[in-house]
Amino acid sequence: MVDKYLVTAALPYASGPRHIGHAAGVYIPADIYARYHRMKGHDVVFICGTDEHGTPITVQAVQEGVRPIEIADRYHKVIKDSFDKLGFSFDNFSRTTREIHYRLAQDFFMTLYKKGYIYKKEVELLYCSNCKRFLPDRYVEGVCPHCGAEGARGDQCDACGRILNPTDLVDPHCVICNTTPTTRKSLQWFFKLSAFEDAIKKMLEENRHWPDNVRNFCLQLIEKEGLKDRDITRDLEWGIPVPLSEAKGKVLYVWFDAPIGYISATMEWAQKIGDPEKWREYWQGNAKIVHFLAKDNIPFHAIIWPAMLMAYGGFSLPWMIPAYEHLNLEGRKMSTSRGWVVELNDFLDEFDPDMLRYYLTINAPQKRDVDFYWREFQRRVNDELADIIGNFIHRTLSFIYNNFDGKVPAPGEFDERDKEMLRLIENAQLTVGKHIEEFNSSLGLKEIVRLAGAANKYFNDKQPWRTLKEDPQKCATTLYICAQLTRSLAIMLAPYLPFASQRLWRMLNLPADVHKQNWDSASELGIRPGHEIRKPEPLFVKLQDEVIRRREEKLQAILRAQSQTVVTAEEFARLDIRIGKVVSVEPIPRSKKLLKLSVDVGDKRRTIVAGLAQHYSPEQLVGKNVVVLLNLKPIQLMGVTSEGMLLAAEDEKGPSILTPDRTVKPGSRVK
Ligand code: 2FM
Ligand code: ZN
Repeated sequence: MVDKYLVTAALPYASGPRHIGHAAGVYIPADIYARYHRMKGHDVVFICGTDEHGTPITVQAVQEGVRPIEIADRYHKVIKDSFDKLGFSFDNFSRTTREIHYRLAQDFFMTLYKKGYIYKKEVELLYCSNCKRFLPDRYVEGVCPHCGAEGARGDQCDACGRILNPTDLVDPHCVICNTTPTTRKSLQWFFKLSAFEDAIKKMLEENRHWPDNVRNFCLQLIEKEGLKDRDITRDLEWGIPVPLSEAKGKVLYVWFDAPIGYISATMEWAQKIGDPEKWREYWQGNAKIVHFLAKDNIPFHAIIWPAMLMAYGGFSLPWMIPAYEHLNLEGRKMSTSRGWVVELNDFLDEFDPDMLRYYLTINAPQKRDVDFYWREFQRRVNDELADIIGNFIHRTLSFIYNNFDGKVPAPGEFDERDKEMLRLIENAQLTVGKHIEEFNSSLGLKEIVRLAGAANKYFNDKQPWRTLKEDPQKCATTLYICAQLTRSLAIMLAPYLPFASQRLWRMLNLPADVHKQNWDSASELGIRPGHEIRKPEPLFVKLQDEVIRRREEKLQAILRAQSQTVVTAEEFARLDIRIGKVVSVEPIPRSKKLLKLSVDVGDKRRTIVAGLAQHYSPEQLVGKNVVVLLNLKPIQLMGVTSEGMLLAAEDEKGPSILTPDRTVKPGSRVK
């Protein structure tokens, strides 16, 4: 029997364009997973769509003075466009404003209601007397009662991940007009989540294969706070009407309806393929249901959603919930409101989508937050994608094209080295597959890069440019094996780089589509001797410094604009700036710009990576009194962890490091 997979990627709010962080933490890994399993011959349905209710959309509609559906229409299109350009292979990309979804969400409500899992209660809610409306969810912000972070929203605190109620917030204010709200009574409907505490705990305990950031996080949450009943209705005009006559003017809470969207979008898919009942095979059969999402969405998917499914009855529960951490941008948390983001559409206007897929997979925020650095992006694309993978493919195909009339030569006897190379292909096919199956697509991609590196070495060691004349049979064998390697790489890269792999498949002049190939066939000798290839072209174009510099400058401009904002003395005091003394300086291999400094900061030494190599020699720096920021979050630069920042001024002549005007003891505070 064929394995069935129902793969979902968290439904993005249609409240704005998506940025590279969303792609890194949800959509790219989900797409790799779905593409891989299809190539394994499994039965996969990959579902997504826009989440079009809730306050992220209504708040924006109020701010723009338009109707919520206009916002949803606009961003559904923008998001879908960027997702298409990135090659996400959804079987259905739906919308939660579609009729089929309204019907199913209301059916969920009524079924739970009739089973006694939904009850009504009068509650005190926040009300803005200026805007004359209740302030649910994102209409209100304040201080998180759990972790003290400012800017916590009425539905959740991004800093600690806790789900909140607006009335939990300390110092709340209306996000539209900044007024401090009052409270008012209102009738709401509650889902009896408390009734599922034991069942959810059992589910979490049994699902030992779930990642710690999901399983432990939720178990601890339950341990600490227990499961409380949740209000699932709102006083809003925009949303799915609560299907009860006494609930006029109330709609379902967006987090009640959104996950139901996974099922309604599967139903819609079944209708589209002309087999309307087929969705049941995935939701009520033995399919593995996999929900890809970012860490902010964990409690909704791993606690509330399974409880809703249990309450309804007859549905399968999630089999796996891969939840990713955050992607920061150049050392700072991404923030759409502050412009500190790279939006997907903007990125895709200038760069090859596969380059983004490559960088965000090899540098995936899987177990911890990671950073997107433009320089790192350039380096990895140029040094790995172009110089390792692209180079091997290009030199192989060009050699065959120029020296064998474009036809893959017939091999002679394989020697040990040839056999070893073939074994490496077989191993890679197995290992890469295993990593993807275990939700480690990043490790899988690293394995492919390693294989391409080994292939380059094989090519170098075999010196076909010499054997071409001296030992033509040997040369033919080498190129035969290299040709097999290029085909294997095309297949293995297909889930990761859907466009480049197909371009390669075309250059190889192989039939059909690389995405239709069976994964296991990657280790076969799939190109016959005599097979004619097309004229090769480079698979990747390297990224020029100028392009990257422009991108960095754009971010610098944002920082400059922000630096014109006023900071308080307390905010400044949070920076731990001290005098240090440079003890030693080393170049960083393969970096033209970076130096690794060891700096004495009083009680200990700190490693600091600074972009000074083109302006200072190590000798000029050693012994210098410098100014360093110590409580900067450590960052990895070219494999070295930098534990602070060296302060420097910069003008058109380049950087000039700051030094005190007399020798000051290392560790002295700068204030
Ligand atoms: O965080 C978000 O963007 C939500 N719209 C995710 C919803 S996932 C699912 F439940 F639909
Ligand atoms: Zn207000």
